Amino acid sequence: MHASGSLETLMAASLSSSPNSSSSSCSSPCSLRIGIVGFGAFGQFIAKTLVKQGHSLSAYSRSDYSLICSQMGITYFREIDQFCMVEHDVILISTSILSFGDMLNLIPFHCIPKPMLMVDVLSVKEFPRDHFLQVLSQEFDILCTHPMFGPESGRNGWSGLPFMFDKVRISKDDHRSKICDDFLHIFKLEGCRMVEMSCEEHDQLAAQTQFITHTMGRILSELDIKPTPVDTKGFQSLLALRDNTMKDSFDLYSGLFNHNRFAIQEWLRLEHAIEAVKTKLLKDKDHALDAVTTKFLRDKKHESN
Ligand SMILES: NC(=O)c1ccc[n+]([C@@H]2O[C@H](COP(=O)([O-])OP(=O)(O)OC[C@H]3O[C@@H](n4cnc5c(N)ncnc54)[C@H](OP(=O)(O)O)[C@@H]3O)[C@@H](O)[C@H]2O)c1
Repeated sequence: MHASGSLETLMAASLSSSPNSSSSSCSSPCSLRIGIVGFGAFGQFIAKTLVKQGHSLSAYSRSDYSLICSQMGITYFREIDQFCMVEHDVILISTSILSFGDMLNLIPFHCIPKPMLMVDVLSVKEFPRDHFLQVLSQEFDILCTHPMFGPESGRNGWSGLPFMFDKVRISKDDHRSKICDDFLHIFKLEGCRMVEMSCEEHDQLAAQTQFITHTMGRILSELDIKPTPVDTKGFQSLLALRDNTMKDSFDLYSGLFNHNRFAIQEWLRLEHAIEAVKTKLLKDKDHALDAVTTKFLRDKKHESN
């Protein structure tokens, strides 16, 4: 059973709480009915802004978030079938990268009122794009996105923060394309820097940047670095990087590696870079040793003359 009230009450509430239940009825951006699948750290983080902007939200997740949802004014479903029957404009998938495939297998797509805009926020992009294209019929529009910020970096607002998106498959139909534009408007309104690029390009760049950042943070955590009375600014930055990285789940980090085909080459480049630095260091040490030995031999020669 869902967490609160009858299904009919919830559906009625969900429908009526949207002042513009159909985006086609207004030319300016409309309030949307958004269903969130996966209500963990990121799902809750994004929901706060969606609620603030006046969108009508419902949520489904593996765990029970009925209390937190009722506090936020969000309709919570404990059963995926019942969640899917609600008239949404958008379904936003915010589960872990690792569970994305299983979650799609769980969703009864035949129960979802169509047309429907499916959006994901996964930190890798080719992986959800390929899954969506595999399981979704043409009645579903597909928007792959990656808000390049989270509960930490976006805690004081989203202004100036990058929002990556790829309109993988959006119907030219006026109503359907407007839903997509209205969804993107949410992030424009918050001042995000809107970055449209292909999922492939995203994964290449994110492997070079985000994956390396998380890897460094995880390595610093393994090193067990601690603050000292003589910390430099540089070291304080490393502590901050470690702390920020470790707030994200290991599932997220694992997903960045296992579901981005470009991550392995960045891992190898990292290993190579460590070896290159080590070689340079040892070479300098060898030079220093050579100099000491030469001086020692020269001194000995002088003594014997
Ligand atoms: N954190 C960030 O800064 C950030 C930024 C941009 C995008 N993202 C993306 O947002 C998504 C969510 O990230 P997150 O930070 O909330 O942490 P996460 O650990 O990547 O994902 C947690 C979410 O996945 C669900 N989940 C995990 N394993 C599951 C399973 N076996 N079956 C069903 N559901 C499962 C959890 O559900 P329950 O809580 O119900 O167990 C929760 O909703 C990820 O795809 C991530 O890449 C995160």
